[in-house]
Amino acid sequence: MPHLVILSASIRAGRKSHRVALFLKRLIEEKNLATIEIVDLNEYQFPIFHERLMFQKNPVPELLEYSKKIKEADGVLIVTPEYNGGYPASLKNAIDVLYPEWQRKPVAISTCSDGDFGGNQVITSIQFVLWKMHALTVPAMFPNPNVDKAYDDQGNPADKAGAEKRALYFLKELLWYMEAKQRMQEK
Ligand SMILES: Cc1cc2nc3c(=O)[nH]c(=O)nc-3n(C[C@H](O)[C@H](O)[C@H](O)COP(=O)(O)O)c2cc1C
Repeated sequence: MPHLVILSASIRAGRKSHRVALFLKRLIEEKNLATIEIVDLNEYQFPIFHERLMFQKNPVPELLEYSKKIKEADGVLIVTPEYNGGYPASLKNAIDVLYPEWQRKPVAISTCSDGDFGGNQVITSIQFVLWKMHALTVPAMFPNPNVDKAYDDQGNPADKAGAEKRALYFLKELLWYMEAKQRMQEK
């Protein structure tokens, strides 16, 4: 079974986008699509980037652990909010600190906002950054508008059928890339 990491990007006090990470984790488990772990940047609280991990002399153990989790995942699903049309500094921090870990890694992006557009404006900037790092960015979206009302604290969607239908289409695309990568590695 493939292994998927959900990278939950928001470290904001009272964050809401983490609800989407919880929802997706539960759905993936229920449908038995992959083994799944949430990597929560709010738990890590990494310091502001000062150098890439591969050039650090004495990296903190948490950074090594984070690197290992990304490296070993068959795919990564980023759940990110939109802040002023971009993605949060916590996420840029966590992307730039790695490099080989991202190469040819299937990465899908789910965005969130408390407005009607679900964080759509984040997509182009984050896709470009991941493309620069040679990740395999998945051309599918899972925007989550009104995230504060669309999910409760435990990640239960108000519109269960609708959210699951959209999420499963999105996940199908990510899983396709994960399987394609796996097949190439078997060659
Ligand atoms: C600094 C900041 C900037 C924001 N900018 C936008 C924005 O550009 N577009 C938008 O739709 N929502 C914006 N919002 C609202 C967020 O979408 C909303 O707070 C959402 O819950 C953020 O995710 P989080 O709770 O996980 O941090 C912004 C929120 C913050 C804190």
